[in-house]
Formats: sequence, C-alpha cells, structure tokens
Amino acid sequence: MAQQLWNKGFEPDQLIENFTVGQDRELDMRLARYDVQGSMAHIRMLESIGLLTREELDQLLPALQDIADSIERGEFRIEDGVEDVHSQVEFMLTARLGDVGKKIHSGRSRNDQVLVDLKLFFRDELKHLAEAVRKLFDRLQALSEEHRDKLMPAYTHLQVAMPSSFGLWFGAYAETLTDDMQLILAAYEIANQNPLGAAACAGSSFPLDREMTTELLGFARPHYNVMAAHMSRGKTERAVAAAVAAVASTLGHLAMDVTLYMCSNFGFIKFPDELTTGSSIMPHKKNPDVFEIIRGKCNRLQSLPNELTILTANLPLGYQRDLQLMKDIMFPATSQLIECLEMADFMLQHIQVKDNILDDPRYDYIFTVEDVNRLVLEEGMPFRDAYRKVGLEVQNGTYRPTRSVKHTHLGSIGNPANPQIAAKMADLLQRIK
Ligand code: ARG
Repeated sequence: MAQQLWNKGFEPDQLIENFTVGQDRELDMRLARYDVQGSMAHIRMLESIGLLTREELDQLLPALQDIADSIERGEFRIEDGVEDVHSQVEFMLTARLGDVGKKIHSGRSRNDQVLVDLKLFFRDELKHLAEAVRKLFDRLQALSEEHRDKLMPAYTHLQVAMPSSFGLWFGAYAETLTDDMQLILAAYEIANQNPLGAAACAGSSFPLDREMTTELLGFARPHYNVMAAHMSRGKTERAVAAAVAAVASTLGHLAMDVTLYMCSNFGFIKFPDELTTGSSIMPHKKNPDVFEIIRGKCNRLQSLPNELTILTANLPLGYQRDLQLMKDIMFPATSQLIECLEMADFMLQHIQVKDNILDDPRYDYIFTVEDVNRLVLEEGMPFRDAYRKVGLEVQNGTYRPTRSVKHTHLGSIGNPANPQIAAKMADLLQRIK
C-alpha cells in the first residue's frame, strides 16, 4: 500500500502516484547519505532552539547514524509505495522510535530538504569531477613535456598552416581545462550555500538557527533569502551543467583531434593494438572507437544546459514539481563525464607519437612563414616584401624550405609555459575543498 507523508485520510490513485514519483525511488538513492546528514544537522539545531529535548536528540541521532551506516553498507532501500528518500528516512525513524520520529520535520519541508541534499550532492560530484579533470590535466602536461620538441603541422581551414608541436597540442588541452575548472569552481561556490530553513517556500515561524546548520553541514554561507534559496534549485543545476558542458566540449574536441591524427592519411599518433577495435568485414581495421564514444557522449553532455533551460523556462518563483525532473537529467551526467575523462586518461597513457613528421615533403609549405620571418630578422627585409618574395617562390615552384623552427616567446613551441599553467590549475583546485 502506498504511504505518503502527506496522507490525510484518502488513498491517492495508483496511476497518479506512479506517474508523479517517476524515477525518484532510484535516483534518490544517490541523495540518501546527504538526506541523513541534513536531518542530523536539522535536529541538532531543533534541540538548540528548544523544539526537541536533549533525550529526544539522543534517541534520534543514533537511529539516524544507523540509517547512515546501512546506506554506506548498501543495505538501504526506498520501499515500494514510499515516495522518495525523505519519506523513507522519516518512516524508518517513526517505525523505530514512535512519536519522536515524527518530530524531526518541524520547520522544514521536503522542498528545502531536497535542496539541501542536492547542494551537498553536487558539491561532492563537483569535487569528483575536479579530481578527474586534474588527473587528465596532469597527464596532458606530462605528455606536453615528454613530446615537447616533436613537431607537427598546425592547421587553419584544415589546410596545413604553420609548424606546431606535440608539446603545444597536449599543452593546449591542459590549459583549456584550467578555464573549465573556473566554471567547476563557480558551480561549486554556488552549490556551497545552505538553503535549509527555506522550508516549503518562504521560511518558517520557528526561530530556526540557520547559521548553525550552515556550520554543521560545512557550507560556506547560508543562501540568505529563503526565496533565493528556492530559486537556486535550477540555478545550481544550470551552473553545474555549464561546467559539465565546458569540460565535455574540451574533451570532445580532443577526441576529434585524436581520431583525425590517428587516421592513416595523417598517421601522427597510434595506440597499441589492444586498445583499438576491429571490423567484422575489413581485416585490416584498427579503429579509434574509444575516442568516438567519448566524442559522442561529450557532444550529448553539451546539451545539458539547453535541456535544463527548456525544462525550467518561465517557471514561477517557488517549488514546482517540474523541478524533480532535473534529477533525471543531471544525475547520470557527471558520472558519464568522469568516465569519459578516465578513459581518455587511460588511452593517453599509451599514446605513441610519430617522430619527424614535418620531414615529409607534403609539409614543405608549412615553413613559409618561418622563412618570411627569417628574411625579416636576418636580412632586415620589411615583412610585406619578404612575404611577397616567398609567395612568388611558392607560386613559381622554386620555394625550398629551410626547415628551421625557432619559436621562443611565451606560450610558443620553444616555451610552452607548462609550469605557469600548472600554477593556474593549482590555484583553482585549492579553492574546491
Ligand atoms: N521528489 C521531490 C523533488 O525532487 C521532493 C520534493 C517534493 N515536494 C513536493 N511538494 N511534492 O522535487
């Protein structure tokens, strides 16, 4: 039989119950530990303002701790007929302790309860994401140093353009991840504010000590205005989605480059056979499926902000049930991205980079700018004249490249500035704690 916290003497229709609960019984499992954490802070606070006695608190806290332990052991379940994690925890307490279990909900609502759970959940998810990004960042920086002097073509319009290096290529993705980390930090700071006390929509007439729960839950500060706290459901998700989409865009971009450079027409990089996949008909194939799946997943993840925008467009201020559906969108997303980051890191650990790519005559014209610059630097020729001279040689088929590459400025082939980039990343990471 269905049991609702809000049961007031009639049985709701089963069809309505199933439809409105949706995927919550499954998805809320990921919120369970945070729900208990939130309840522990809430009841400590209730005792401090005289809404629970010390004895009641001493009964409730160990019972909640038992539930927390059962969650960590993987034994906790949201029973059929129970709407969500918030209801399950309250029912378990009441079943065990009787009336005292029914007291914990004073001064709060499932609306601010789920908000607290989500903020604590996203805070942890963002920490895991930051850690996975940091690992890939470290890998890319190490590869950038290892292959620092290996030259490769840079392209514009997908036409060969100028000499570049694997030091720059790997290093570019590392530095771009620092920009993405800025968004992870921004989302983290938005999530790191305490909404508890916002109750159903506009606070409570109990004298709730919101500073105390902020401190107990380790939030940086309260989300002060109770209505702003409610508006943060949706806003927090959008910030997280922006961070996820940013990382996904970097990783998807990298995956595209890898598939291109691995293509036999390029042949710049390779992976050991066992990390490639085959074809059922073409016996020679060694395909980059891992990076294709990464690319596809990352492209999908970039639609998250859009999905949330459409889901929450023009919602009125205050709780609406539509908000529940954001869990369906957001919960699988961070784990999926982290899996892609970990796969990319695993693959890159085994990447093989070809030497002397630019010795191939097909890349001769890549040195034209170097030769123009040499005429300017060594012979004092005005740039436009040097450009024309080399241009005419190319046109007449008489151009012969000197093949010397001397880039020394900050962030260039000769000075990819990896330590400075590492310092940027370290500064951001120490703020996500
Ligand atoms: N499962 C709900 C959600 O995620 C919890 C809050 C329910 N509140 C309500 N008024 N029905 O939004």
